[in-house]
Amino acid sequence: MNISRHFSLRSYNSFGIDARTDFFSSFHTREELEEILAEYHTIASAAHKDDILILGGGSNILFTRDYPGITLKNEIRGITAVREDDQHIYLKVGAGENWHGFVRYCIDRGFAGVENLSLIPGNAGASPMQNIGAYGVEIKDLFHELEAFHIKDKALVRFSAEDCRFGYRDSVFKHKYKGVFVILQVVYRLNKTPVFNTSYGAIEEELERMKVTGLSLAAISQAVINIRSSKLPDPGQIGNAGSFFKNPTVSAEKYASLSERFPGIPGYPSGEGVKLAAGWMIEQCGWKGYRSGDAGCHSRQALVLVNHGNASGKEINELSERIAKSVQEKFEVTLDKEVNII
Ligand code: FAD
Ligand code: EPU
Repeated sequence: MNISRHFSLRSYNSFGIDARTDFFSSFHTREELEEILAEYHTIASAAHKDDILILGGGSNILFTRDYPGITLKNEIRGITAVREDDQHIYLKVGAGENWHGFVRYCIDRGFAGVENLSLIPGNAGASPMQNIGAYGVEIKDLFHELEAFHIKDKALVRFSAEDCRFGYRDSVFKHKYKGVFVILQVVYRLNKTPVFNTSYGAIEEELERMKVTGLSLAAISQAVINIRSSKLPDPGQIGNAGSFFKNPTVSAEKYASLSERFPGIPGYPSGEGVKLAAGWMIEQCGWKGYRSGDAGCHSRQALVLVNHGNASGKEINELSERIAKSVQEKFEVTLDKEVNII
C-alpha cells in the first residue's frame, strides 16, 4: 500500500485536466481498499475524512478544482464465469477491467450482448453507475448483479438490477448512494447464441458499407467502432468525456410545438415522451466547433465538449453553462449534465 500526496490527476482523467488530489492510491482487492481507508483515516484532517473519490478510467468526470481528499483508483481485475445454463453464461468482471477489453473478451468467445457497446472508454466498475449505453443497447439489458463495498459500514452488499434502479444514463449510485459504495465486481449475463441488434439505423448502413454478408458479433463490433471513430474525438488525441449532456425528454405536446417552430428537429419516442438530440440543438445555437482558449465544442459532435490542451475544468464547465443557457433560451429545454462534476 502506498498513499501519494499532492498527486496530479492529469493522466487519470480523459479531459486531461491538471487537477491535484491531496492523497492518491490504487487498490487491487477489497482487503487492500480497506487497509488504505484505515490508513487514510489516520492521516486525513477531520474536515476531509469523508472525502473519498473512487476513480475508474476517468472518462466521465470533470475536475473543476483540486480534490481535497483521497482519490482511489480501482484496479480490481479478473473475468470469470460464475454460472452457465443452456442459453447464458454469467461473467463476473472486476471493476478495474477496461470495458472494451471485456467486450473483446466476450466477442472472442462468442458471448453476445455487449458488442454494440464496443469502444466505450472507462472501466467495468463504472458501467452500472450511469447504465452505459450506445447503439440501441444499455447495460441494464444484460446486467445480473453487482457486489459493492459500503465505505462507512465496511460491509459487502449485493445489488440486483432492480436495486440499481437503472434509467437512461442513471442509477441509484448517482443519487441516494452517491459516494456511499465502491463497486467491486459486476456480473453480466451474456447470450451463448447471438441475438444480433442492428435496430440502430447507422449500424445497418455501416455493415452495408463494410460489405458484410454474414452477420457476426465481430462485424457488429467493427461497425460500431467505425461509426464511433468517425464522430467522437479520441481522448488520447483531444481531451473529452463523451457526451457532456444527456439527451432531454419532453412531452409529445412540447415536441409538436418545437417541430412547428424548428422543422426537422430530431425526436425519438421514449417512454411517455419524446427524446430530443441535445447535439442538434447545441449545433443550432451555433456552438459546434466553437473555441474559447483551450475549451471548446467539438467540430464533429456538438454534444462533446473538448479540452484542446490546457483548459481548466472550470473553463469547460463555464462553457457548458453558456451552452445550456442558450439552448434554454432558444428551445425552452433544460440540458442536464451527464459528466460527473467534481
Ligand atoms: P470514471 O470517469 O472514472 O467515473 C465515473 C463516475 O463513477 C465517478 O463519479 C466515479 O466516482 C464513479 N465510479 C467509477 N468507478 C467506480 C466504482 N468502482 N465504484 C463506485 N463509483 C465509481 N458513456 C456511455 O454511456 N455511452 C457512450 O457511448 C459513451 N461514449 C463515450 C465516448 C468517449 C470518447 C468518452 C471519453 C466517454 C464516453 N462515455 C460514454 C462516458 C464514459 O465512457 C462512461 O461513463 C464510462 O462508464 C465511465 O467509466 P470510467 O471508468 O472512466 O468512470
Ligand atoms: N446531431 C447534430 N449535430 C451534432 C451532433 C448530433 O445534428 O453536432 C444530431 C445527429 O445528426 C442525430 C442526432 O443528433 O440526428 C443524434 O446524434 P448521435 O447519433 O451522434 O447520438 P447522440 O444522441 O449525440 C447518443 C449518446 C452517445 C452514444 C450515441 C450512440 C447520449 C447523451 N449520448 O449520442 O453516448 O454513443 O448516442 O448511441 O445519450 C455518451 O454518453 O458519452 C455518449 C457518447
